[in-house]
Amino acid sequence: MRAVGFRVNGGVEVLEELDVPEPVPAAGQVTVRVAFAGVNFAEIQHRRGEFGTPDGPGGVDVPGLEVAGAVVALGAGVSGLEVGEPIAAYLPAFGGYAEVVTADTRFVRSLRTGAGEADLAEAAGLPCVYPTAFGVLKDAGRLREGEDVLIHSAAGGVGSAAAQLARELGAGRVYGTVGSVEKIPYAAELGYDGVFLREGFAERLAAETGGRGVDLVLDPVGGPIREQSLTVLAPFGRLVAYGDLGRHEQWTTSVWDLWKSNRSIAGFNIGDLARRAPERIGEYLGEALRLLAAGRIRPGVTQTLPLAEAAKAHQLLETGAGRGKILLSLT
Ligand SMILES: NC(=O)c1ccc[n+]([C@@H]2O[C@H](COP(=O)([O-])OP(=O)(O)OC[C@H]3O[C@@H](n4cnc5c(N)ncnc54)[C@H](OP(=O)(O)O)[C@@H]3O)[C@@H](O)[C@H]2O)c1
Repeated sequence: MRAVGFRVNGGVEVLEELDVPEPVPAAGQVTVRVAFAGVNFAEIQHRRGEFGTPDGPGGVDVPGLEVAGAVVALGAGVSGLEVGEPIAAYLPAFGGYAEVVTADTRFVRSLRTGAGEADLAEAAGLPCVYPTAFGVLKDAGRLREGEDVLIHSAAGGVGSAAAQLARELGAGRVYGTVGSVEKIPYAAELGYDGVFLREGFAERLAAETGGRGVDLVLDPVGGPIREQSLTVLAPFGRLVAYGDLGRHEQWTTSVWDLWKSNRSIAGFNIGDLARRAPERIGEYLGEALRLLAAGRIRPGVTQTLPLAEAAKAHQLLETGAGRGKILLSLT
């Protein structure tokens, strides 16, 4: 079967088309014929080597954290899914840039929901992004009804999802930041109450909120943005760190300053959740598919490229040029 992977870490040029054997499902797994794979920033980090050197079969790693497709075969002990069923799956150990993948059923949910059947292509952009957005808002961020939120990288995959889920969870005002002016109109369509350029955001937000700031900041950028984000937290405000897009040096702050100013910092990581509370991811994926089928969220697929153009998809995300969700098509 066709796949795209890498034998050495590096730039987009290390991605190559491969012919690899089709996998067989182990107990508790299904195999899935992939129709669409979502492209995530973590796959760029994987390719660059931030998660280690390639150690897959034959020394090749296949990236890809989320897919949608149809079940091909059931491993031992699997119930509640049938061959041919349309599903979406989160793949914590990667592997999604391939025609057939194995998926642990704890991270697989049917597209047939109580609210109707979710669209196959749009569903491919959900399995990593939406459980992350739920996790940063609800679990790490402890969002309560009426609270105001600031979302950095507001037009990206997780950012776009978080903006929509914040509304579903009853947030008050929702603000966003983006890295370039061209993204402001796109982000504004996602329903933000205000979208600012990341540079100088703290002053703009202070002006917009009459100096109060927000109750929750979602920050995948790090460095100086993380530091400035602490200054825009209202009393008992929380900052959730869940990425380091800026590849900044390790950032530290003073616990003294936190407790003296009624501010908190929390962290979120989906990989850790997959190991220690996998059922939470399945639950959030199921809820996201239901919201999609009900027409309450839009994954915002802005581009669908053929698998062979995975390098182009990586380039778009890596240069910060991407908006919304980019998919790879395997049909
Ligand atoms: N902790 C977790 O469990 C978890 C799970 C999923 C994703 N994440 C993290 O969430 C973040 C977003 O992931 P995503 O897949 O949804 O990607 P994305 O937001 O769709 O794409 C990346 C965006 O990041 C922004 N960015 C900011 N600084 C950047 C830099 N120095 N270089 C490149 N881009 C930069 C760019 O938008 P702007 O310039 O407009 O901001 C770019 O479009 C990533 O940090 C990822 O690692 C974490």
